[in-house]
Amino acid sequence: MAVSLRRDAGAGLRLREFLEELGPDELQRVTGPVELADVAAALEGNAKAVWFERLSLAGNVTGSRSRLALAFHTTPRDLLPEVLGRLKNKGEVVEVQKAPAQEVVEREPDLTALPVHLQHGFDGAPYISASVDFTRDDERGVTNVGMRRLMLRGRREAGIDLNAPSDLRAIYQARAKRGERLPIAFVVGSHPIDQVAATMRLPGDELALIAALRGAPLQVVKCVSNDLRVPADAEYVLEGYLDERGYAEPEGPYGEFLGYYGALKSNPVFHLTAVTHRRDAVFQTATISGRTLSRTDTSQLNALRAEVGVWRALETAVRGTRAVYASPASGGAFNVRVQLETRAPGDARNAIAAVFGCLVNVKHVFVVDPDVDIWSDEQVEWALATRFQADQDLVVQSGFRAIPLDPSLRGATTGAKAGFDLTTRDRAPIPQPPSYEGRRFDSVEAALRDGPKHFVELMAARASRDGREIVRDLEALRARISRDADGRYVLK
Ligand SMILES: Cc1cc2nc3c(=O)[nH]c(=O)nc-3n(C[C@H](O)[C@H](O)[C@H](O)COP(=O)(O)O)c2cc1C
Repeated sequence: MAVSLRRDAGAGLRLREFLEELGPDELQRVTGPVELADVAAALEGNAKAVWFERLSLAGNVTGSRSRLALAFHTTPRDLLPEVLGRLKNKGEVVEVQKAPAQEVVEREPDLTALPVHLQHGFDGAPYISASVDFTRDDERGVTNVGMRRLMLRGRREAGIDLNAPSDLRAIYQARAKRGERLPIAFVVGSHPIDQVAATMRLPGDELALIAALRGAPLQVVKCVSNDLRVPADAEYVLEGYLDERGYAEPEGPYGEFLGYYGALKSNPVFHLTAVTHRRDAVFQTATISGRTLSRTDTSQLNALRAEVGVWRALETAVRGTRAVYASPASGGAFNVRVQLETRAPGDARNAIAAVFGCLVNVKHVFVVDPDVDIWSDEQVEWALATRFQADQDLVVQSGFRAIPLDPSLRGATTGAKAGFDLTTRDRAPIPQPPSYEGRRFDSVEAALRDGPKHFVELMAARASRDGREIVRDLEALRARISRDADGRYVLK
């Protein structure tokens, strides 16, 4: 299905338009009344994005590779090359005075007036989850963009999780150390491309990164209650600041992106100073956790980001990388597959070593030959079963920095990584249905006089559409024929 998005700078990229252009194969429209208490169950494991029209709330928008691909006007398999290509763009940022995102300005804002639902049974409170944050890094003179969840603590207060290493964590900690607040703005309701940009961790100005990935200039507008610039085409903007008290208040528990609950943590507090939005704004929620990770926003966004990181690491480590796939079912990075044309002994191990080091989240690396489709679980299972000897082809190393949310660490702060070299130097032909091509002869005997032949070549030689008459001809010739080591029939 084709999605035509208006690309010109004036039009911008809007979540509502993206949703409107999705077909019924990608979007479930819920037109009847829905209570916030039922939103999570409707999204759980859902392969489609869901638009709760009465709540003006959309969920699971980026929860599939196909929808991410539609956002970039490409196919799921071409998504990574498309993103890598766009990352070479020089992103242009244009400031505007008047923005759709500020059609309505609320200076007495209230988080509890927004359609924010409880996402998992034991979450500490309802969370805003599809929240793209914008801050300024004074030291580098750039805008930092990420995605961070917000746990409602009241009408103007929310907890923000800043435990994992990130640019925002570093920016905030530097500010808090000086006893200063950090102005921040959260866009809720954005085009998938902006969320892909937000989850990338690349050096440089990330407003320009959004523009680069959009492939069009990004129009930004100054917030009404601070000096930050946010995309002018956003649905909602929640403006405010993180207070100077540091990691001062409990936040969580929360259903995390590996499919388990994270612990109650100490985290900073966000204070809301204004809300601006479009008149017909669509609020957005992201799916995060549970048993069906491959259908969550987090895993799909994580997977694309991991693939970019792995691809770039392999570019310098080895020649011959054909494709990279991060499995969304593993949270989008824990299990990574690499399709590699090996050129010299050891190439696969070099690739494994490079992938081990390039991302903390990568835990298991599977390297396959170009004849194995890394998008196919079936083919990778087959390669693991038949091209792998555990005592020779397994690379295990320990002591790596690890993601504390991984329960198999059993509390350790470092963990092991494993590489599976599924490449093979002596690749046997793969059985396939026969194809009947070759020279024609007047008889099987004439064909064999020309040289040894496989059965299929004898069928082709006689233009046979059956094969059983060739068996009878071979029977008649039995005393005069033998077989060679490849199984071909040979005239003695
Ligand atoms: C839906 C979603 C929610 C996320 N929530 C958080 C979060 O609450 N805290 C966090 O540290 N990272 C979170 N992340 C990961 C960060 O957004 C990601 O690491 C990003 O690259 C950090 O950006 P920065 O290093 O530029 O600050 C989330 C990612 C997604 C896709």
